[in-house]
Amino acid sequence: VSFLPLHEPLLPVLKALLSELPGPAPTFALDLGCGDGNTLPLLRERWPELPVLGADLDPAALEAARGAPYVGLVVADAHRLPLRAASVEFVWCCATLGLLTDARRALAELARALRPGGRALIVTATQRWVLRLHWPPELRSTLGGARPEPWAAPICDAEIGRELREMLTSAGLQGAVTRAWPLDAGLDDELALAEWPRLRALLGKSLDQRTGAACAEVAVRAEPAVVALLVATLATKPLP
Ligand SMILES: C[S@@+](CC[C@H](N)C(=O)[O-])C[C@H]1O[C@@H](n2cnc3c(N)ncnc32)[C@H](O)[C@@H]1O
Repeated sequence: VSFLPLHEPLLPVLKALLSELPGPAPTFALDLGCGDGNTLPLLRERWPELPVLGADLDPAALEAARGAPYVGLVVADAHRLPLRAASVEFVWCCATLGLLTDARRALAELARALRPGGRALIVTATQRWVLRLHWPPELRSTLGGARPEPWAAPICDAEIGRELREMLTSAGLQGAVTRAWPLDAGLDDELALAEWPRLRALLGKSLDQRTGAACAEVAVRAEPAVVALLVATLATKPLP
């Protein structure tokens, strides 16, 4: 299976957001709106043994997905999933939510299909006004390569993904958190969408006063701009 050109620039981000997910490997996953199976290799790279069911409304897309190592492929409408309640442990829904006519209903279906403790990771592309922050290089060196627990302490602007988080909560999921990246940039640019107070809290004592002052200045002076974003939201079905 080859990746669509659409996903190619995003591969490092998609890989990172999966590889940084905390918690044990799920035992059974649903690729909701799987299309021709382009993102299955990402899931299998993260969890090589993971059985994944592919579901899509379009039989032609599923025909194209036949070569991919799904455990099954099902023609299914996300608004009425042909799945038993509490039957999957992980839902991956990439570049599909925006195409659905009734996202709330589809999220309620997704929540129904999830086992208690199971998680949904929803990836969408969107365009919105954001502050894109050009931090001083010292900030990146202070932070180092990797952020500890990026899903537990997301740094992105709380406005990004707010509506989806609210919809996931209404659907009965909890702890919805969002990470976001400008579509035209790479992994590092998650920082460009950070809220300065969250980033400052993450840096804690490792931030020296001069760098802190320079960053605060960047945050104050930033102008909003319309930016295309990759937005990833993770939510969990609560245990009873
Ligand atoms: C842009 S493609 C994304 C495919 C794949 N997830 C990926 O990232 O490469 C969106 C997919 O959503 C599917 N889709 C649209 N409406 C749907 C619905 N109501 N139920 C299930 N799938 C749907 C389309 O058929 C299409 O294959």
